[in-house]
Amino acid sequence: MRKVLSYVVPILLCFGVGVIGSMLQTSALEEWYPTLVRSPLTPPNIVFPIAWSVLYLLMGVSIGVLVSRGDMSVVRLWLLQLLVNFLWSVVFFALRSPLAGLITILLLDVLVFTYIIYAASRRLLAAWLMVPYLLWLFFATYLNGYIYLHNRLRAGDVVKVVVAQPNVTKTDKIMNYTMPSLPYSADALAPLMSRETIDYHYGKHLQTYVDNLNRLAVGSPCEGMTLDSLVVHADGALFNNAAQVWNHTLFFNTLTPTQTDMPAELRRAIERDFGGVDAFKEQFTKAATSLFGSGWVWLVEDKDGRLSIVSTSNAGNPLRSGLNPLLTLDVWEHAYYIDHRNRRADFVRDWWRLLDWKRVTSRIKHKQPAMAQ
Ligand SMILES: [Fe+2]
Repeated sequence: MRKVLSYVVPILLCFGVGVIGSMLQTSALEEWYPTLVRSPLTPPNIVFPIAWSVLYLLMGVSIGVLVSRGDMSVVRLWLLQLLVNFLWSVVFFALRSPLAGLITILLLDVLVFTYIIYAASRRLLAAWLMVPYLLWLFFATYLNGYIYLHNRLRAGDVVKVVVAQPNVTKTDKIMNYTMPSLPYSADALAPLMSRETIDYHYGKHLQTYVDNLNRLAVGSPCEGMTLDSLVVHADGALFNNAAQVWNHTLFFNTLTPTQTDMPAELRRAIERDFGGVDAFKEQFTKAATSLFGSGWVWLVEDKDGRLSIVSTSNAGNPLRSGLNPLLTLDVWEHAYYIDHRNRRADFVRDWWRLLDWKRVTSRIKHKQPAMAQ
């Protein structure tokens, strides 16, 4: 009985790891894996569960033979490689990181190779049952390495639009998050917004967010996502930098040196939802001057086309709440300190005189509800 268990337990362990690993892979195989550039030597998906089933059987029998002989010296090594095998499924498919997967599978290669050499040196023939597994791992390492090398972010890889927001500057480089271009010269907004402010706010602060975003995105589970997707789905530092790029892109692309009249469509919506343009400006200004610390104030549209004012702290973005931003004001101190020192209210007053209302209006996505009776 004990001899039977020495075979059955490790085999069940292997298949348990395989089943859980497969569950982790389900969504990745449908949504993510097909989008990757893969080696031409990649077998059809059906080959993988068949190959793994055979290999798990051989792995179980290999350790089963050793345990049934009473030789427990390599059990820990065998268990460790099985754990790393499982870890590879997690980092590659669940975290969707080809780089972390490559590092993990290289570690697995070393562990299995060591197991075989160690067991073989003790004249344990069952060690050789692991050789097909090692050969398969070498092949999997090549496939993983190919995916890593051919799916990295590279400057200049032209794929599709990053920023889908209408009239926000579009870039055609998804593989490299880039600075949005300004629709005016750096000194065009002076004296309301000086060249020095643009040089620092756009040229240094925004550039830093773009640089950080590119650095953080490479090798992360979010690698390759559009900027919009990052803003909605990413967390931590990646979200902070992605959202700051998005927010600043909208902010700078809403300014103009040539004042425009508010189009009738937007004016009607504002009158409907705020009681008038002056009342809207008053509420927005109050939100901007009373927001504690760093953040953003937004004019947003909900899914029914209703407009409202939203304040967010730090890098917050209304896209995460399913709202469509039409207009945003940056109230981080770096936005106004050069021209207005600590006088945020003066900055807000001057900002109103720089708005391109046509661009704001063009961002309305939904058919406007009928005017309230
Ligand atoms: Fe800013």
